[in-house]
Amino acid sequence: MNFSVNTICTIGAGTMGSGIAQVCAQSGFYTLLFDINNDVLEKAKTSIQKNLQYLVDKQKISAQEKEDIFKRIKFVTDTNDCIADVFIEAIIEKVEAKVAIFNQLAEVNHSETIFATNTSSLSVSDIQAGIQNPARVVGMHFLTLHH
Ligand SMILES: NC(=O)c1ccc[n+]([C@@H]2O[C@H](COP(=O)([O-])OP(=O)(O)OC[C@H]3O[C@@H](n4cnc5c(N)ncnc54)[C@H](O)[C@@H]3O)[C@@H](O)[C@H]2O)c1
Repeated sequence: MNFSVNTICTIGAGTMGSGIAQVCAQSGFYTLLFDINNDVLEKAKTSIQKNLQYLVDKQKISAQEKEDIFKRIKFVTDTNDCIADVFIEAIIEKVEAKVAIFNQLAEVNHSETIFATNTSSLSVSDIQAGIQNPARVVGMHFLTLHH
């Protein structure tokens, strides 16, 4: 198998999703940030800009790098725009909701796409059980850091 990761899509742009998208873009990946709620996406844009500015102020990144990182993120509300090599899900903590969005996205993405869940408390096996090709589903846990 020849699998390379170019694009990562974060599903859900709330507390976790916006931070996850930011670190993906900071790591050089072309990043999609998807949410069903446009207001949440607008808030995520503001919060990512603020976090990147903080890094500029602390001289961790240059102003140019801030711009380049932000440009790598595309904010989307339509699942048809969600074409990626890896998905990292950070939506509501409900098995059925996570299974439903993974299955919906599997229909429009290639067969080797990885679906990662950031669930805090649900069983990854329960999520896998609802997916046609369970081997594509993994658990991937991120923590929030506040400054
Ligand atoms: N908040 C934390 O500290 C934390 C830490 C680790 C893991 N988690 C887990 O991460 C996940 C997200 O938590 P959060 O705190 O970021 O939640 P949040 O409520 O801040 O954000 C969830 C977002 O998902 C969106 N959403 C809901 N259904 C959707 C769908 N079908 N498609 C696309 N977007 C959808 C909502 O509009 C909302 O913006 C949960 O599974 C949670 O258990 C949270």
